[in-house]
Amino acid sequence: MITERKLPAGLITRICNARHAVFFTGAGISKASGVPTFRDGADGTWNRLNWRLYATLDGFKNNREEVWKWYELRRLSIHAASPNDGHLGIANFEKLLPKVTVITQNVDDLHERAGSQSVIHLHGSLFSHRCAACAHPHTMNVTSPEGQIVASTPQPRCTRCGGWIRPGVVWFGEGLPEADFANAVAAVNDCDLFFSIGTSLDVYPAANLAFMAAKRPVCVVQVNPQKTVLNDQATFTLKEKAEKALPAILQAISEGSQHV
Ligand code: OAD
Repeated sequence: MITERKLPAGLITRICNARHAVFFTGAGISKASGVPTFRDGADGTWNRLNWRLYATLDGFKNNREEVWKWYELRRLSIHAASPNDGHLGIANFEKLLPKVTVITQNVDDLHERAGSQSVIHLHGSLFSHRCAACAHPHTMNVTSPEGQIVASTPQPRCTRCGGWIRPGVVWFGEGLPEADFANAVAAVNDCDLFFSIGTSLDVYPAANLAFMAAKRPVCVVQVNPQKTVLNDQATFTLKEKAEKALPAILQAISEGSQHV
């Protein structure tokens, strides 16, 4: 367990002096909320399932009903999940620093539900949908009489062209949402503090943001229980879970700690 005394020397001072902090997050930050990661251990989604079947346009076309059902189940389980101390910790930084931008690869809405105001979704969202044929946006507001979100099966059709509705996530081989990626690059170029939290940095172009930050004269803090390629380039690496590390940092800041 991380304690205040275990935080690296100088970390808190660098954080407290920051003008604009970027929090770049991946699946690891949502793990404590019960959302599985992709490549982390036996329950990692892509260690159990073939991403070519579940995360490509061809997979969707060839196995549409099963893929739709799988994304609906994910949408439901995330709706039932709650933000954890990692998400809540990031949201709390907005009260401490002049500017905070969250850039996430996650398709859940847990940062928003934790209270983060400015969240850029690089890989889309399980809660936005569009037509697979004409890209017309589709609003899914399927609730039970008790107000719970329920799975939308059978799969809906586009009201404009009749095409199949698909989840608004970015699949392998597809481009990132241009405006979101441009905003993310601008935030990385403007920030003076960059956190990389809970990501293996295995997926591009998103991972490039961390390497862009590391090339700039900014403080780069990595939070991850496992080693990544960023270890050699980060200013500080906390080999710890997000839901432990972020509250420990906030605690040290609130105590005005002298020994960090
Ligand atoms: P990965 O599954 O590749 O990596 C998750 C990382 O989180 C690993 O490095 C773990 O060590 C770390 N981790 C696990 N538990 C943690 C915790 N409690 N606190 C902090 N870190 C923890 O997930 P991503 O890097 O997010 O694409 O994967 C990138 C993209 O690949 C995803 O956005 C997804 C996937 O295909 C789409 O959904 C489009």
